[in-house]
Amino acid sequence: MEVVIAPAERLAVLAADAIEAVVRSRPRAVLGLATGSSPLKVYDELARRHREDGLSFARVKAFMLDEYVGLPAEHPERYRNVIETEIASRVDFAEGAVQGPDGNAADLVAACAAYEESIAAAGGVDVQILGIGTDGHIAFNEPGSSLASRTRIKTLTAQTRVDNARFFGDDVDRVPRHCLTQGLATIMSARHLVLLATGRGKAEAVHQLVEGPVSALWPATIMQMHPHATVLVDDAAASRL
Ligand code: GLP
Repeated sequence: MEVVIAPAERLAVLAADAIEAVVRSRPRAVLGLATGSSPLKVYDELARRHREDGLSFARVKAFMLDEYVGLPAEHPERYRNVIETEIASRVDFAEGAVQGPDGNAADLVAACAAYEESIAAAGGVDVQILGIGTDGHIAFNEPGSSLASRTRIKTLTAQTRVDNARFFGDDVDRVPRHCLTQGLATIMSARHLVLLATGRGKAEAVHQLVEGPVSALWPATIMQMHPHATVLVDDAAASRL
């Protein structure tokens, strides 16, 4: 596991470099996109490179990590809409090239299986962008998640719902209770994992991720077993290393 400690702007450039390298070198690159605030500067940097340097995503596919269950199609916090706003609409992905688990499917179990098949059919993810929750979750794999898990339905922890209430008018009751999320084994199948974390609130999770024992209690620690994992953190997030 490679750990880089640098200011947030520099971290975004490094993550964008990893994505650009794969997009330019593989005719049909596959990206893994994360929601949350951590990747926002990366998406800004990719949009800038698209605008100014001609970086094209026209032949690129992208898969999202997770989705809330039951948010109306037009809800701004539905992750599909968040990704559209933050990155997809700012570059030149082809129609249908960005996919996410369908949190409104009539059969959620079947939707999870179909999502796994879509990722496999695309040839797997080349670079997966990740954030980390304060409790060490990645995607929505909350503490206690099986290290061998694939895409499935999960119940959000009280902590994550409180953390994410800021996106729902600071009203925790409006945060959905369930989600669909890629599993830890799904994420581990990506060829390169790039995790970003900034701020003191992430310091304990980053400490566990890098220095703690591999454990389902801190799901991100599974990344220690990955052959190509990059952890990009600022000084505050690295303060417990
Ligand atoms: C959510 C997302 C995760 C994300 C985490 C951290 O729970 N499902 O993918 O990593 O929040 O969010 P942030 O980057 O805003 O701190």
